[in-house]
Amino acid sequence: MAAQIIDGKKIADEVRAEIKQEVAELKGQGIEPGLAVVLVGEDPASQVYVNNKHKACGEAGIYSEVHRLPGDTPQDELLSLIDRLNSDKKIHGILVQLPLPKHIAEKAVVNAISPIKDVDGFGPANVGNLVIGDDCFYPCTPHGIMVMLDKIGVDLKGQRAVVVGRSNIVGKPVAMMLLQRHATVTMCHTKTRDLAWECRQGDVLVVAAGRPRVITGEMIKEGAVVIDVGVNRLENGKLCGDVDFESASQVAAWITPVPGGVGPMTITMLLKNTLEAAKRQ
Ligand code: GUN
Repeated sequence: MAAQIIDGKKIADEVRAEIKQEVAELKGQGIEPGLAVVLVGEDPASQVYVNNKHKACGEAGIYSEVHRLPGDTPQDELLSLIDRLNSDKKIHGILVQLPLPKHIAEKAVVNAISPIKDVDGFGPANVGNLVIGDDCFYPCTPHGIMVMLDKIGVDLKGQRAVVVGRSNIVGKPVAMMLLQRHATVTMCHTKTRDLAWECRQGDVLVVAAGRPRVITGEMIKEGAVVIDVGVNRLENGKLCGDVDFESASQVAAWITPVPGGVGPMTITMLLKNTLEAAKRQ
């Protein structure tokens, strides 16, 4: 039986409508949520992401400003800008678009963002709080994945969840969130001995491997929920995920498409974190 599609665009639209409503209420109390996005250099993909973030803020009624810095900006200059934004009262969230040019130490930049404005949730304070289960900003992509699982009514308690990929942005945080919701979590990566066997144990399978179509139908448990975080550009210009959609959708019960799955949720959760940051501050 063909899997049901998890429509990320539809879920994102629903969540954005709720956010817009809440932003309007907050503005009624005299607080306008504000986001500062910093882009260093001219990476084409990053420019698209940053423009989309700015546009999404506008649509939700959130104030946003984009700081575009040349690719050869010294690290100190970037750190001074972050310092200014940390104490800017109209800015509640700060996001520095990654990757950064090679001469800038990503760690120094991420660490410089005030934890109360770290709406990406990448800084050590947020990551630490996530691990110990305290209040924090959930990183946007994993946060979006959890909202999707909730929307389709998955009860994670006692379920086997398998995560493919151990990045700081997706794999590690999503594994922590699944664990917090009482799933039994396995993390797979490039050194995993029998990836197909591990994946087949998953009632929920989250794939953030960064390699096109590495997960095929025969690696998926019958009736599983499959979340594909991958976005890969094929030679013909089309996008595909890390999961082979055609074979996987014959086995899974639910599956996210690429595009139109996890993607639309990421910016939505950035809006949600910015709103949350404004409420807290
Ligand atoms: N580059 C790719 N994804 C992200 C993200 O979620 N946040 C930031 N800051 N940079 C990214």
